[in-house]
Amino acid sequence: MIVLGIETSCDETSCALIDERFRIFSNAIYSQLEHEKYGGIVPEVASRQQIKKIYPIYRECLKSAGLAIDDIDAIAVTCGPGLIGSLLVGVNFAKGVAYATKKKIIGINHLEGHLCSSFLEHDDLKPPFISLIISGGHTLLIHVKDYCEYEILGQTRDDAAGEAYDKVAKLLGLGYPGGRKIDELARSGNPKFHKFPRATVRKDPLAFSFSGLKTAVVLFVRDKTTEFIAENLNHICASFQEAVVDMLATRCLRALDDLKLDKLVIGGGVAANRRLREFFGDAAKQRGFKLYYPSLELCTDNGAMIAAAGLIRLQRGESSDLTLDASAQLPLV
Ligand code: KG4
Ligand code: ZN
Repeated sequence: MIVLGIETSCDETSCALIDERFRIFSNAIYSQLEHEKYGGIVPEVASRQQIKKIYPIYRECLKSAGLAIDDIDAIAVTCGPGLIGSLLVGVNFAKGVAYATKKKIIGINHLEGHLCSSFLEHDDLKPPFISLIISGGHTLLIHVKDYCEYEILGQTRDDAAGEAYDKVAKLLGLGYPGGRKIDELARSGNPKFHKFPRATVRKDPLAFSFSGLKTAVVLFVRDKTTEFIAENLNHICASFQEAVVDMLATRCLRALDDLKLDKLVIGGGVAANRRLREFFGDAAKQRGFKLYYPSLELCTDNGAMIAAAGLIRLQRGESSDLTLDASAQLPLV
């Protein structure tokens, strides 16, 4: 079975082809650079770029796989959550291809895509496990009981982890999106330079909150000189990053203990973070759990993860029809 995965939920346009063994034939991605000058994503610009790029990316995907549309069995497309204008481009494109070629179509939750991205590279990965999805829009701790069977253990009460990275990066003048820039600068920084607060949510130990941390960085730099900030930028980034990793780690380790599970799967853009991977790598060795994460290009938004989630659902006999709609808000469960 060959599945075409289409992802257009935000500012990436991606089409990918995978087979029933999760082997990737191609994964064409276009990342919009137009938003950098605005310091954040402009929804209308994002959807107009999606319209321009979807067909070329679809062609590129087929060409680099050396396949024709007739070789494909089904189409999986992100139908939410995300920017509605961007989502509608992918959903309508997928519906058009499905109608013209009489292929099956299935709508996929973007978060389920991130969750399934590790299946693409780890043959031995099977539920049950704990999954941490950390992206620009979401921070979710999930008990994956079985394929497609999820229980949300905790989520953010305010900013998502990636959002906190991007806001702090903007504050420090690092541009947008800044997660990767903070990660790079932090490599040469001292994480103990300043102890930023680690917030907990009352009566909900597995919930996350990052807005207080962001405010703490604002307050820290407010009375510092431009020279001081420039000289210590790497240390500030490392200290901020340490607080984020610490908050994510305590919840994950607690969930593994509480549920007596021995597999942790991380996904989403922030899962590309070097310090996070290093921390969890050490913790996995010390505590004896198995750690899974996707390679860097599969952490951020891509069509292959949508194809992976689609494959799992199609193999269970599920599919959508041509009334498939897109939703900006679409809970995982
Ligand atoms: O999953 P994703 O590509 O898009 C959403 O679904 O939101 O995640 C994007 C987020 C951005 O906030 C970006 O700053 C963050 O992932 N990110 C990182 C790194 N690479 C991307 N955050 C920390 N360290 C990184 N290396
Ligand atoms: Zn995403």
